[in-house]
Amino acid sequence: MSAQPPRHGENVVRFASELIGATPLLELVRTGAGTRLLLKLEQFNPTGSAKVRMAREMVVQAEDSGELRPGGHIVEPTSGNTGTGLALMALERGYSFTAVVDDHAAADKLRAMKAMGAHLVIVDSAGTEGPSSVRRRRVAAEISTRTGAYQPDQHNNPHNNTGYRELAAELRKDLATDIDYLVGAVGTGGSLCGTVAELRRLGSGVRAIGVEPAGSIIFGGPAGGYWQTGAGSPAGFPVGGNVKYDVIDEDCRVRDIDAFATARVVARRTGILIGGTAGAAVHVALRRLVHLPAGSTVVVLVCDAGEKYLDTVYDEDWLAARGLYDQSAHQRIVRLCRAYDESVRLASTDLVRTGA
Ligand SMILES: Cc1ncc(COP(=O)(O)O)c(C=O)c1O
Repeated sequence: MSAQPPRHGENVVRFASELIGATPLLELVRTGAGTRLLLKLEQFNPTGSAKVRMAREMVVQAEDSGELRPGGHIVEPTSGNTGTGLALMALERGYSFTAVVDDHAAADKLRAMKAMGAHLVIVDSAGTEGPSSVRRRRVAAEISTRTGAYQPDQHNNPHNNTGYRELAAELRKDLATDIDYLVGAVGTGGSLCGTVAELRRLGSGVRAIGVEPAGSIIFGGPAGGYWQTGAGSPAGFPVGGNVKYDVIDEDCRVRDIDAFATARVVARRTGILIGGTAGAAVHVALRRLVHLPAGSTVVVLVCDAGEKYLDTVYDEDWLAARGLYDQSAHQRIVRLCRAYDESVRLASTDLVRTGA
């Protein structure tokens, strides 16, 4: 067969990881005062999550430093989104990958990792409502010591945070104004702190609001169980160095009931399904909008897609069995959105009346 001449003007990538980034911004609501709440839809990345950005960065940096050698083995404890990101990087670059997970993780994330050839080690969460982060981490460390596998350690690896530099650049490029508030769910802290640090380096005056599940201990609240997966840290888990307390201006805790009700309202309003931790972040942002100066811009980092939670956040039986199906929480969010919509209508009526 004769060699094919290069085709000019084509837009084709050879690796899925080349599709990381350039995720869209969707306006969820605006107020009559011109304040906007925008969603940065990170589920449009390959693997359906923001975390693939940092998985790529950690792997590339480990190759550069020699910690990861050709044909090597990667092991990491994960609630699933870091794991799918590492699974993608491993298959593209010829590594094996072991994900240490627990049965608290969304089943579809586990299935996705397996589909990409990852080996799963499942740690029993002993029927608790929280993740088994402490045990996951211990098992991963044991595997790393025994086999010499490279453990990225997303909670302390600085390349987790720097993996979000492009996300910050995208926000600068896609918006004509500065961002007043960036709101994000916090787990390792990488996505919120990394994005905010880079935004500020680029000249932004953005304020950062970190959101964790009620029951998580990152910001010092009382410990308890929670069903939001990916964000938060349960009692006894040492908060890693990637939560930069000096970067985060405000912190909030959101109950599962409110996080999940908000995610479900967003689905009904936009047709876009967001994950439960994004629901928590949107909940905080929605309540804040009314208090902000006119014309403010608020961006919520949507870490992942609701399609990963069809069996949980979007399943009424699953919610009801855990006492999380709450119509009044749902109605509160619906009313808030309607009030914002109404304020826009009134503002435009005023403009017509005054002939402005
Ligand atoms: C669904 C979900 N939300 C939020 C987060 C928190 O992101 P970060 O670890 O960057 O703080 C994660 C992290 O895994 C996640 O999977």
